[in-house]
Amino acid sequence: FSSYFSMRDGCLHCEETSVTDVHRILQDDFPGRDSPFFVYSQNQIVENILAYKQPLLSLSNQCILGYAVKANSNLSILKLIRQHCDTAVVVSGNELKLALAAGFLPENIVYNGCGKTLREIDHAVSVGCLLNIDSLFDVAHIGKIAKGRGVTVRVLIRINPDIEVTAHPYISTALAQCKFGIGIKEIDEVLRYLQDQPKLRLVGFHCHLGSTIERTDVYRKTVSSVLQVVETVRSMGLTDIQYINIGGGLGIDYKRHAKRTSPFIKPAFLDIVFRSLQDGKAETDIIAENILEAFENQHKMTPEEVSEIIRSNLQQYPHLIEEFEKQLEPELSHQCPTPSDLVASVKDLVEGKNISLILEPGRSVVGNAGVLVMHVIGCKKNGHKRFLITDGSMTEVIRPSLYSAYHHIELAESSTLACGKAVYDIVGPVCESGDFLGKDRLLSVPHEGCSVTMFDVGAYGSVMSSNYNSRLRPVEIIVSGRKWAVIRKPETFGELINPQLLTITSEDKKE
Ligand code: LLP
Repeated sequence: FSSYFSMRDGCLHCEETSVTDVHRILQDDFPGRDSPFFVYSQNQIVENILAYKQPLLSLSNQCILGYAVKANSNLSILKLIRQHCDTAVVVSGNELKLALAAGFLPENIVYNGCGKTLREIDHAVSVGCLLNIDSLFDVAHIGKIAKGRGVTVRVLIRINPDIEVTAHPYISTALAQCKFGIGIKEIDEVLRYLQDQPKLRLVGFHCHLGSTIERTDVYRKTVSSVLQVVETVRSMGLTDIQYINIGGGLGIDYKRHAKRTSPFIKPAFLDIVFRSLQDGKAETDIIAENILEAFENQHKMTPEEVSEIIRSNLQQYPHLIEEFEKQLEPELSHQCPTPSDLVASVKDLVEGKNISLILEPGRSVVGNAGVLVMHVIGCKKNGHKRFLITDGSMTEVIRPSLYSAYHHIELAESSTLACGKAVYDIVGPVCESGDFLGKDRLLSVPHEGCSVTMFDVGAYGSVMSSNYNSRLRPVEIIVSGRKWAVIRKPETFGELINPQLLTITSEDKKE
């Protein structure tokens, strides 16, 4: 993926638009609610969709690309995606309404979820969505509604294949102990239940392994095991099976910026050095001081110079040199697979099997297309730790707090103060120590009011935002070239308080 965000003329640009200029206008239009704000790049989103569509064309059976609405459900973004992608994947009644409002045809909407209410199922069935069966009770619920309405409903069975992916446990979804899907051994039972539901037409199987997946072999493993199920089911006479839906989950390279700018000596390594060298001897103290000095000045040196200082000082501590080398490896060697790699990894398995693939990406469509622009409220130091406190917080992007997720953070304007760099935790004003956006980041020393950018928050940023501490949801804009538009107005205090003004008591109900 290329990036549509760049630093030019001392400030952040999204495509051809200066984000600083946009901010000035937001200050006039929404005083006091102009920061933080989300900025999306329209062309990045379109490019990300094409990155999926092109490789899918190489498969002989027609495949379906469905956008997972949950990643970013802003109506304007959905409308944009709809222009380039026919199918939407939803997980709630309101997401279904949004997808319909954005112009997705009901028959091109896949409805997933382990807890679909009867009301939600009724809506999905009435408009004609493809529904996922996630449990035995789902068969009964969907079957009952289909019968009541006298319509045939196309369904997929969501399989839980018990496959491990390297993702945070909260977003790994295909292990036996997760709440999602139906274990391969229990599929027989579901098929028996389905026989009693003449209005449910089984057209395929679904599987979603988890999110932030950084390897394609797990998709290959999934397709192999789902294909076995397909073959068994077809041999039982169920000839309607057309689809294998392999879910979403492809990761994006959140650390791609960090490869350019992250400290060569990381704070974690410094910690290890200090703990190992605590023997009270004067010469070890000098070594520790030398390493600290190199850490603090590393941005002025080449990686080779830093490396030389580490190696010469730690000659007598080969295990520390080993640690130093270890901390370099992951960032330099890591590369996230592309949609094209994903399709290539399963292509030979599905070719000739009379199966259409369904893909449901969310993050890889919108993730790298959005940033959060924040402003510095102030800097402070507690002990040896420096904090940069911004007006953005966990209420806008909860991923670092919830999953210890890494998002690259940079000053969005070139610093006017020429006082070098320092290591900061970037935190918000929210009343929790868990309110952080980035830890131990090497940044130019910022001035108050200076703008700071958090990257790759186009997916699971705004959609997971909250009103905690009675904070208001921020303004969102989308950029295309030199043009831009507000696609979500900043929330007002009125919108926050209005639903609370009218109280309905049990006494009112009695009247
Ligand atoms: N299909 C199903 C059935 C899903 O459950 C999900 C995501 C997707 C598709 C889209 O996955 P994606 O391509 O976006 O990884 N809040 C978490 C992510 C939760 C994902 C839930 N399911 C985060 O911020 O990382």
